[in-house]
Amino acid sequence: MKRVLVTGAAGFIGSNLVHYLVAQRPDWDVTALDLLTYAGNLENIAVPLRDKKIKFVKADILDDGTIGDLCRSHTFDFIFHLAAESHVDRSIHGAMAFARTNVLGTQNLLDHAMANGVKRFVHISTDEVYGSLGPTGRFVETTPLDPSSPYSASKAASDLMVLAAWKTHKYDAIVTRCTNNYGPYQFPEKLIPLFITNALEGKKLPLYGDGMNVRSWLHVMDHCEALLKVAEGGQAGEVYNIGGSAEAEIPNRDVTYAILKLLGKSEDLIQKVADRPGHDRRYAIDYSKIKSHLGWSPRTSFADGLKSTVEWYLNNRAWWERIKTGEYLKFYDKNYGDRK
Ligand code: NAD
Ligand code: DAU
Repeated sequence: MKRVLVTGAAGFIGSNLVHYLVAQRPDWDVTALDLLTYAGNLENIAVPLRDKKIKFVKADILDDGTIGDLCRSHTFDFIFHLAAESHVDRSIHGAMAFARTNVLGTQNLLDHAMANGVKRFVHISTDEVYGSLGPTGRFVETTPLDPSSPYSASKAASDLMVLAAWKTHKYDAIVTRCTNNYGPYQFPEKLIPLFITNALEGKKLPLYGDGMNVRSWLHVMDHCEALLKVAEGGQAGEVYNIGGSAEAEIPNRDVTYAILKLLGKSEDLIQKVADRPGHDRRYAIDYSKIKSHLGWSPRTSFADGLKSTVEWYLNNRAWWERIKTGEYLKFYDKNYGDRK
């Protein structure tokens, strides 16, 4: 039995990780923590909560008192740290929340973890810290950090603080850097869920720039499997890249066509709009380190993963309709209103 804390547990990857841990490690004592910002939704973990498979704490990772009490009273084996501001476009409209949560919040959590004997801190980060690739090559763990957006800059800063805890204090911390995830419960501000739900609503699909920016897509459950392997078998102080296979490195335009095809909708729904400022051209990751050290590789092909994701959004219309008719509308108007 292990005691674990998952931060950001009501968000997209955090909630999928909670489901994965409950299924794969049923004897573990899982505490799910989340501030329930616009991106956090308790519906995402309603079943394990109802079945009392997990405990839930509503808290800000910057809340000294609550985080301190939690770490003191539980002696966690692992913290999976996923709480973050995660959307690049929002960071362009305002960076402060990103600096606050991603940098200061991570440091607060890390300090309490270190002070209270949390055995291992797994910091979930992103390939975006490496910046943008040209037409060839892939990021390796030693690629210099060169973030472009306030989001990725805040993640790079937090990565370095976590790695400093290892270098300075020999505190057992690990950083993972993953490519673009997709799957159930993803907030419909990100490309795949936004385009699926817009198409279902008969709305335009706002494709940035020339649509040829490439992302490397990984099904969220493959990411969760990698995170568990890293927690259980990773080396302290290491960085592990996690990412999609070569077949899942796809220009946004082709992802858009694939979504429309699965839904039987017309390509006329695509609307080319002004590009994202500082838009990274291409991401691709070399995951040979985690493959050779921990035996992890992606399992889900992009075709299968996209199909099941489209089905999930078709079958869970109430989930995303509630989001899209609420507070989210204000961001949508701000982000897309002046792009045409
Ligand atoms: P998300 O936005 O869906 O979820 C983030 C969660 O964090 C939300 O539930 C939110 O309420 C919570 N949160 C925000 N601020 C908080 C605070 N101050 N205290 C406590 N909780 C807070 O994000 P996601 O896509 O699930 O990403 C999770 C993590 O994985 C992030 O650290 C992100 O940088 C990283 N990541 C995401 C991807 C991706 O493709 N989505 C890829 C690589 C890495
Ligand atoms: O690479 C990992 C990162 O992937 C994570 O760290 C981030 O948290 C996650 O949000 C994601 O970042 P991206 O910026 O790549 O994801 P997003 O879904 O916002 O955009 C994917 C691509 O689609 C990107 O090239 C921008 C483009 N795009 C996005 C939106 C929302 C559009 O063309 N139109 C859109 O409306």
